[in-house]
Amino acid sequence: MSVGRLARLAALVAAVSLAALASGSGLVEGAPLMELNHENFTEYLHQNPYVLVSFYAPWCGHCKKLEPKLEKVAARTDTFKVVKFDADNFYNKKISRDKYDVKSFPRVIAFAEGSHFKYQGPREEGAILGFLKKLGQDTVLELPNEFALTKFPPAEEKKINVHTSFVYLGGMSEEYKSLLRVARDRKDTTWFGRLTHPSRALLDRLGVKELPAIVAKFDGEHYRETEVLEVAENSRADDEDYDPDASVREFVDSHFTPPFHVITPPAFGALRARNLPVLMVVTDKSRQDKVVKSFSKAVADLIPQYRDRVSFAVINGEEYHSWLYYEFGVDMTSEASPALRYILYQSLEDGTGRMKQFNPETKNKVSIKEEEARRMLELGLSEEVPWTFTGEMAWARNARAKVKAFATKVYKRITNLYAVYVKGANVEAKEL
Ligand SMILES: *[C@@H]1O[C@H](CO)[C@@H](O)[C@H](O)[C@H]1NC(C)=O
Repeated sequence: MSVGRLARLAALVAAVSLAALASGSGLVEGAPLMELNHENFTEYLHQNPYVLVSFYAPWCGHCKKLEPKLEKVAARTDTFKVVKFDADNFYNKKISRDKYDVKSFPRVIAFAEGSHFKYQGPREEGAILGFLKKLGQDTVLELPNEFALTKFPPAEEKKINVHTSFVYLGGMSEEYKSLLRVARDRKDTTWFGRLTHPSRALLDRLGVKELPAIVAKFDGEHYRETEVLEVAENSRADDEDYDPDASVREFVDSHFTPPFHVITPPAFGALRARNLPVLMVVTDKSRQDKVVKSFSKAVADLIPQYRDRVSFAVINGEEYHSWLYYEFGVDMTSEASPALRYILYQSLEDGTGRMKQFNPETKNKVSIKEEEARRMLELGLSEEVPWTFTGEMAWARNARAKVKAFATKVYKRITNLYAVYVKGANVEAKEL
């Protein structure tokens, strides 16, 4: 080999390893995001199966903070295109507001193969990349063997969120096609797998008599449980109303555990809509990482056990202090405030809610023990500790008392008196 060729080769090797270094470390700086508008949004999504869209407003500060992070995300994902969309522009609103219900900013939505998923995790590069990685994979992962089943879902996912996963056992069937459809809408938070040829020993262990079957797995740190949908048994029954799609959907819906998340107020709305009490840990920004770590460890076994009874969440009390104050009367800005609080919230049928608040025994404590979380749940769900009403509800009650007093005084007697509750877009009137 000539000296010239050697030198060129060496230069090439150096260039390649520099590029590898740059992509592996934090050196990558993202290029500015591409922007879409009402004229080319639909066309662009049609051409690209995986797109992450940041719906922003030009005046929004959180959007400006998020943008450089998204630029880095864009530089690091191979699957997704990352773009932005001015959701507050008059012409663009027919897409952002009317089609995707974007009312607060930034709202990050991933579009993957015809489905779309709101991003509700922390506004951090790593968390967003994890979300995209999950969405970029196959909807139902083929498990090559039984060993893969024991390692499913991947351990690094379990550390952050405790997931329910669903494993289909057997070959092609109507139920498998249904599972594919159901799984597509749950892809962001739930793991689905398929094992085509399970051994008799495995089936015995799971209590499965015949294939196909669907197994729901609940994995905590020390807690394991499975439940089985015996497809064969159901479909053979002489039930004319048997509908594979409805049966699979019901099984997945009733065994689905939403992951525990660091949430934002809109995500809280979604949790509240499940009509289960929400156990929410409120922390400040500087301690958030430690709190999330210790809370996820403390509740790793509680989440699967309490999945039908409670939702779990962590919220940053500094970033959302005015929301917390308005909604729950929690003042995170006051100096007397401990670094950590627990709120157990329950929504009521009339759209308002009630809550119980717990403070950890030691002030400024950041670590949460399983025992403490368990005791709090037991107390919280019992009637031993009285419920109090949240700010909104207290306000409504107070207002009702005042209106009543006023009406009684002025009109001497009450004829027809209505309380009008305004909740978001809903106005509700109730006779008093
Ligand atoms: C969409 O249209 C806007 C405005 O004309 C333009 O700035 C942007 O580059 C277009 N994006 C694509 C992907 O064509």
